[in-house]
Amino acid sequence: DKVRGDVLFDNVTFKYEDNVVLQDIDIDAPAGKKVAIMGATGAGKTSIVNLICRFYDPQKGRVLVDNVDVRDWDLKTLRRSVSVVMQETFLFSDTIANNIAYGKDDASMDEIIAAAKAACAHDFIMEMPEGYDTVVGERGVGLSGGQKQRIAIARALLVSAPILILDDATSSVDMETEHKIQQALKRLMAGRTTFIIAHRISAVKDADEIIILENGRIVERGTHDQLLKLRGVYYDIFRD
Ligand code: GTP
Ligand code: MG
Repeated sequence: DKVRGDVLFDNVTFKYEDNVVLQDIDIDAPAGKKVAIMGATGAGKTSIVNLICRFYDPQKGRVLVDNVDVRDWDLKTLRRSVSVVMQETFLFSDTIANNIAYGKDDASMDEIIAAAKAACAHDFIMEMPEGYDTVVGERGVGLSGGQKQRIAIARALLVSAPILILDDATSSVDMETEHKIQQALKRLMAGRTTFIIAHRISAVKDADEIIILENGRIVERGTHDQLLKLRGVYYDIFRD
């Protein structure tokens, strides 16, 4: 039961109680496709993530993974096939190494370091009192938002799941670091279906498809060049 990574939203409508959050959403992401999602706060971006992971189910339409309704997937297999860097990064009160290896207990130190390097985390980790053995989190050394995000990215990279979701994963790092992480991600994302939620054009412009959400509806979609030509919402973000 290995997941290939085709993701399809088929006319999906989702509400919290009476609040319609996503309406008539169609997204076709065959294995390996890079889909970027942009939109104002509250537009419904994280809700799309929640539906892929089956934290919620839609009221109308279907979410399919490998042509099978996610409701029919064994939940453990489904969740193991998706690595998510959540908007709110969560670190355990444990060593940095163990935080990165969470989800892949058998990871070797070499693998952990490679993932940290790809996430631009290696350098700051080496500057910590005990390097990868430094305890972070509630009872340990405090990390900045951007440092936490990079640990979370390393964690996601280590688990080589066929579907990768980055929900505002680089919002707290500076633009130069974001660029570096993106270069590393590009290599590591090859072959994985990827959903990138971001606010900066630089983070989305190379995606195969960029989707603009407004109040739960898709109002624009296309490549960077297509959306610039459209001179719509994306073009306005680009010019700002
Ligand atoms: P940002 O992360 O702020 O950029 O927004 P987003 O695009 O990720 O929006 P999200 O999908 O989180 O939320 C869409 C809408 O659903 C908003 O109106 C939220 O207030 C609402 N919402 C999100 N989570 C919940 C929830 O747990 N319960 C209820 N009732 N509403 C929610
Ligand atoms: Mg969100």
